[in-house]
Amino acid sequence: RDPGWTEWADVIVVGSGIAGLTAALRLKDQVERVAVVTKDELKAGSTQWAQGGIAAALGEGDTPSQHEVDTLVAGAGACDLEAVRVLVGEGAEAVRELIEWGAEFDKDPAGNLSLTREGGHRRDRIAHADGDATGAEIQRALMEAVRRAPEILVFEHAMVVDLLTAADGGVAGLTIHVMGEGDADGVGIVRTRAVVLASGGLGQVFSQTTNPAVATADGMAIALRAGATLRDLEFVQFHPTVMYLGEDSRGQQPLISEAVRGEGAFLVDWDGKRLMEGVHELGDLAPRDIVSKAIMKRMLETGHPNMWLDARHLGREFWEKRFPNILASCEQHGVDPSVDLIPVAPACHYASGGVRTDKWGRSDVPGLYATGEVACSGVHGANRLGSNSLLEGLVFSRRIAEVLPGELRQLEDPAPGAGRALVPGTALKQLQETMTTKVGVLRNATGLAEAVDELEQLGSTPATEIDPAAWEATNLLTVSLALATSALLREETRGSHWREDFAERDDTGFAGHFDVRLRDGET
Ligand code: SIN
Repeated sequence: RDPGWTEWADVIVVGSGIAGLTAALRLKDQVERVAVVTKDELKAGSTQWAQGGIAAALGEGDTPSQHEVDTLVAGAGACDLEAVRVLVGEGAEAVRELIEWGAEFDKDPAGNLSLTREGGHRRDRIAHADGDATGAEIQRALMEAVRRAPEILVFEHAMVVDLLTAADGGVAGLTIHVMGEGDADGVGIVRTRAVVLASGGLGQVFSQTTNPAVATADGMAIALRAGATLRDLEFVQFHPTVMYLGEDSRGQQPLISEAVRGEGAFLVDWDGKRLMEGVHELGDLAPRDIVSKAIMKRMLETGHPNMWLDARHLGREFWEKRFPNILASCEQHGVDPSVDLIPVAPACHYASGGVRTDKWGRSDVPGLYATGEVACSGVHGANRLGSNSLLEGLVFSRRIAEVLPGELRQLEDPAPGAGRALVPGTALKQLQETMTTKVGVLRNATGLAEAVDELEQLGSTPATEIDPAAWEATNLLTVSLALATSALLREETRGSHWREDFAERDDTGFAGHFDVRLRDGET
C-alpha cells in the first residue's frame, strides 16, 4: 500500500522514558534532526512508575566494584561482566548529569543524597526522589529538558508499526501510525539514518504486571522482524511485593517498592510467621528472585493466593513522609499500612532480556540501536538487581550518543517488505491467560509445551481488521512464543527462570544464552 505521508529524520528515538529522552538530549547537538516518537503521551511509559530509585555507587565508602559484585550475584551467573563494568563504572557520573538536567533527589539533613537499600544490595546506594516517586521526578526533569530543546521533534500518539530496512539489511526507516488519525492501514513512513529503540518491556504478556498498558513488547517484535537478535527472553522478573487485589484483577497492579523492606518492613505468612527467616543471609532483602520464590512456595504449600507485608511498625508519620504515593495507593484499596498488613503476591515486573546489543547499544542490524528495558545489554543476567533498570537506560543511551553520530548511514530507500499476518486484538485475553498459567513464576516442560501449542493456535486465526489492538496483540504473540520456547529449552532453574522439573542451576550443562532470530518469517 502507498504510505499516507512521508517524513525524514537523521535519528528516530522510539520511546520516551529515561532511555529515550536521554538519547535524544545527548544526540540533539550532534545530528541535524532528531525525532522522538511515542505511542501515547511522553510520560506514559514505565519510567514514571519507578518507585524505589536509581542505583549507583554514590555513597561514602561505596565503589563501582561493590556494585558490580551485587549485580553479578543477583544475575545468577548469566551477566556479561564487561557490560556490568560499564554500568557500574559510568553510573555515578550519569546520575550526576541527570541532576544537572534538573532531577531533584531526596537529601539528608546535611545536604547529601539520601541513599536507601533494596534486595541484593549490600550497601545503601539507591537515590530516590519525593520519597517513592523517583521515576516520576526523573520523567518530569527529562521532559522539561526536552521542552527546552525545541530542535528535538516530538511525535506523541504515534505507534511504530514496523522497521523498514534497505537492500543491505540496515535501517532505512519506520512505518508509523498516528493514533486516531485516518485508516489504520494507511500508515506513514519516516525515512531515517538510524533508529534508537527505547520502547520498554513486555509486561502485558501476563494478566497481572506492574507495567503500564503501553508495555506491549513492540520494540522487541519490530526488531526481530527487521532481522535483529533477541536474547535471554526467558528471564522475566517477577517482583515479590505487588499488592494483591484478588484473582480477577487484571492489567497494571500497584507495586509496593522493595525500598519499603529496605526501611524495615518484612514478609509474613497467614500465621504471622516471618517468611524469609532462614532462607537467605540477607533475609527480607535477599535478591528479588529468591524472595519471589519463597513467597510462591508458601502460597503453593498453604493454598493461599497471597502472603503479607508487615510495615505497621514504620508508623503513620514515616509512611506519609517516606512513601506518600504507596500509602495513597494502599489506602485507595482500603489498606492502611500503618495499621494493616499489606496483601502481596509476585507479579511480572521486568524483562531482563530483549534486543541483543553490544557495549555501545548496537544491535546486529546496521543503524539499529537499543537501550533500556527493550535491550539485552547483558547487565541483568538471569535476575536484575533492584534499581539497576533506570541506570541501564541512562548509561547505555549516553554510550549510544557517543558512537552513533560517527556511524550514521546514508538515507537509503526502503526495500519492499513482505506482508505479514496479524492476529486480532481480541486474542490478547487468551494469550495472557496462557502465559500467566503456563509461563509464569513456576514453569515445567508440560505447561511450557502446551503454552507453545496454544500460542501457535492463536496465531492461526488472522485479524479481519487492521488496528493498533491487532498490531499490539501480534507483537505480544511474537514475543510470547519466543519467550515460551526459550523457557522450554532452558532445562535448569536460574535466577528468575524457575523450573519445577529442573530444580537446580546447571553450570555443567548448557549455561549460555538463548538467542532468537527469524528464519523464513518464523522464530
Ligand atoms: C521497587 O521499587 O521495588 C522496584 C525497583 C526496581 O524495579 O528496580
